[in-house]
Amino acid sequence: MRKIFMAAAIYLMAVSCGTAPQAPEQNVANDKNEVIETILSRRSIRAYKDQAVPKELLDQVLECGVYAANAINAQQWEVRVVMSEEWINSATAAAKEAAKGTPTEAQFNDPSFKNLFRNAPAVIFIGHKPGAYTPVDCGLMAGNIMLAAKSLGLGTVCMASPVRTFLLTEAGASHLTSLGFSEGYEPLICIGIGYPDEEPAAKPRNMEVIKYVE
Ligand SMILES: Cc1cc2nc3c(=O)[nH]c(=O)nc-3n(C[C@H](O)[C@H](O)[C@H](O)COP(=O)(O)O)c2cc1C
Repeated sequence: MRKIFMAAAIYLMAVSCGTAPQAPEQNVANDKNEVIETILSRRSIRAYKDQAVPKELLDQVLECGVYAANAINAQQWEVRVVMSEEWINSATAAAKEAAKGTPTEAQFNDPSFKNLFRNAPAVIFIGHKPGAYTPVDCGLMAGNIMLAAKSLGLGTVCMASPVRTFLLTEAGASHLTSLGFSEGYEPLICIGIGYPDEEPAAKPRNMEVIKYVE
């Protein structure tokens, strides 16, 4: 009885000092969790304001990219950032020329079309030294970049097509060279980045792909 009384007294003292053991928090997602809010509200942006992205913001976003998980921390990736309107316009003109008479030509005649990189004022190219897990590494880096950008009020769109259909073909050879990837490295994906000028709705997702294994 005396022991119970002592334990109760110690508990009451701890509570009054604010040091009582807390019940584990239920960290259920809600709109007060900024990381989860950022993840769930990110969208691919294909319309941008005519406003350059400050380099300090790009630096921060790119640092988040480099901090991505990657297989055995080998970091077999390289990043090239293009902020030059001249480079973007010249790549767009060359891609348009190369697309003449092909099904991809239509995109260049769209009234909202500004450039090859979904109209973004800056483009981040992520390249890799091809290996078993390097595409995964680059994907994780891209994810970090897009979420960091979103958290800073920027919009992004991850793109494979400008790399596959232009840069890695004869048509894009000179632009690829000008990116200056190291020997053995090639671009895998690119990310258009800028201040968003649209607020697209979320694309539908299939939650049925998730199964808990008993
Ligand atoms: C590897 C990869 C390649 C993509 N390539 C393109 C592309 O070439 N052009 C484009 O407009 N969007 C591209 N996207 C964006 C997807 O279309 C977009 O993420 C998807 O429709 C889901 O929409 P959300 O990003 O708004 O959630 C790509 C995304 C990924 C992850």
